[in-house]
Amino acid sequence: MTKKLDIKPPKGKLGILIPGIGAVSTTLIAGVEAARKGIGLPIGSLTQMGRIRLGKRNENRFPLIREFAPLARLEDIEFGGWDLHGMNAYEVACKSRVLDRSLLDSIRTYLESIQPMKAVFDKSFVRNLDGTHVKTGSTKMDLAEQVMEDIENFRKSKGVERVVMLWSGSTEVYSELGEVHQSLEAFEKGLRENDPRISPSMIYAYAALRSSVPYLNGAPNLTVDMPAMLELAEKNRVPIGGKDFKTGQTLMKTIIAPGLRARLLGVEGWFSTNILGNLDGKVLDDPGSFKTKEKSKMSVLDQIFDSEGFPQLYGDIYHKVRINYYPPRGDEKEAWDNIDIVGWMGYKMQIKVNFLCRDSILAAPVALDLALFADLAQRAGFYGIQEWLSFYWKSPQAKPGLKPVHDLFQQLAKLENTLRYMMGEELITNLGLDYYYGDDV
Ligand SMILES: NC(=O)c1ccc[n+]([C@@H]2O[C@H](COP(=O)([O-])OP(=O)(O)OC[C@H]3O[C@@H](n4cnc5c(N)ncnc54)[C@H](O)[C@@H]3O)[C@@H](O)[C@H]2O)c1
Repeated sequence: MTKKLDIKPPKGKLGILIPGIGAVSTTLIAGVEAARKGIGLPIGSLTQMGRIRLGKRNENRFPLIREFAPLARLEDIEFGGWDLHGMNAYEVACKSRVLDRSLLDSIRTYLESIQPMKAVFDKSFVRNLDGTHVKTGSTKMDLAEQVMEDIENFRKSKGVERVVMLWSGSTEVYSELGEVHQSLEAFEKGLRENDPRISPSMIYAYAALRSSVPYLNGAPNLTVDMPAMLELAEKNRVPIGGKDFKTGQTLMKTIIAPGLRARLLGVEGWFSTNILGNLDGKVLDDPGSFKTKEKSKMSVLDQIFDSEGFPQLYGDIYHKVRINYYPPRGDEKEAWDNIDIVGWMGYKMQIKVNFLCRDSILAAPVALDLALFADLAQRAGFYGIQEWLSFYWKSPQAKPGLKPVHDLFQQLAKLENTLRYMMGEELITNLGLDYYYGDDV
């Protein structure tokens, strides 16, 4: 048994501030309000519906995670955010056509009260969007200071004790790290000098970390995945997390691939294609934003299959990912996967997956759990990269020099053991020999 960590209790209200009041965030906000009113279930959320095994298998201790770990309650959450369109959450949710109108109408007044603040926006980073509800400032540092002011005003006006920031804004165009991202000093100089390599999402993240607010990156943008932000997060002892919510096709990939790898079935090719017609799909229709997403979606198989360790089985996988913007489907994405696998004596087989999913319905519980766990992490004294939350990310950040873990089951084991560790419970190794040989093992 380890010693329970000294975790500050979740006293008072928790603010969740969201850059990007779009399909995912309004589905999250509306879902939380519906759950609070008892008119909908938060299905898919580990923090709300999950249980965790404690102790030995024959002890039958299996509490709800939210009763085991000191998480903020749904009743204590206040939402706010930024967007360049200026519409309130009700208008956006109706336009996004994810949740039924009857549900939205039953919580209309609440949704209408969530009015986005003016965004930090730069069209060169999201070419398929335009907006007028945007901040102006002489420098990027000036814009960051305006976001810090917004955070402080939100804290005061809503009376929240703690805040987390959750990026649910669009995917920015592909970019690579430059000199300006290598240290906090270079980054701050870049902010003052309007360095074109600093994107809006980085400005929000900088403002969050300066305000001791954890930052969670729902998109594949680089944002906090750079030495400068890591330095700031560690300096101010703030948790960060990213990148890119793991929801539809990639979730399936990280469920199926570990199974094939466990049975040592070879893979020759994995072709993934999607059609989706929401605003996210429109943004991803721009090759610059698609490249950012593609890189994030591609990364998962390399680590799971370990082509270096198993060159005969996975040394030459042809992996292709396509996203096609197709407006008639709206948020109801359809994904197809064709997997060419190889068995005993080199005999070939195929697996076909056709996932008719709903993008934002899958993303909302992920976003909720991330916000609640990041708040818990901060109260437990954790800071910097939160590898134990890899479960939720398509391309999880890991400490430089460590390969990220993509296998969903390893990720879940890590998450659960981290909760047990925080709460001073025995870690579970699944050895289980003690059931058979008692104290001899
Ligand atoms: N839905 C999923 O399953 C899923 C999975 C992984 C990642 N994501 C990512 O989550 C993000 C949100 O997805 P969505 O479906 O809600 O998209 P969406 O297009 O409906 O919403 C994004 C919102 O962000 C706003 N925005 C863009 N730049 C902004 C800025 N600089 N400041 C403030 N607001 C800004 C847009 O105006 C839009 O309203 C996207 O980046 C998407 O790629 C979604």
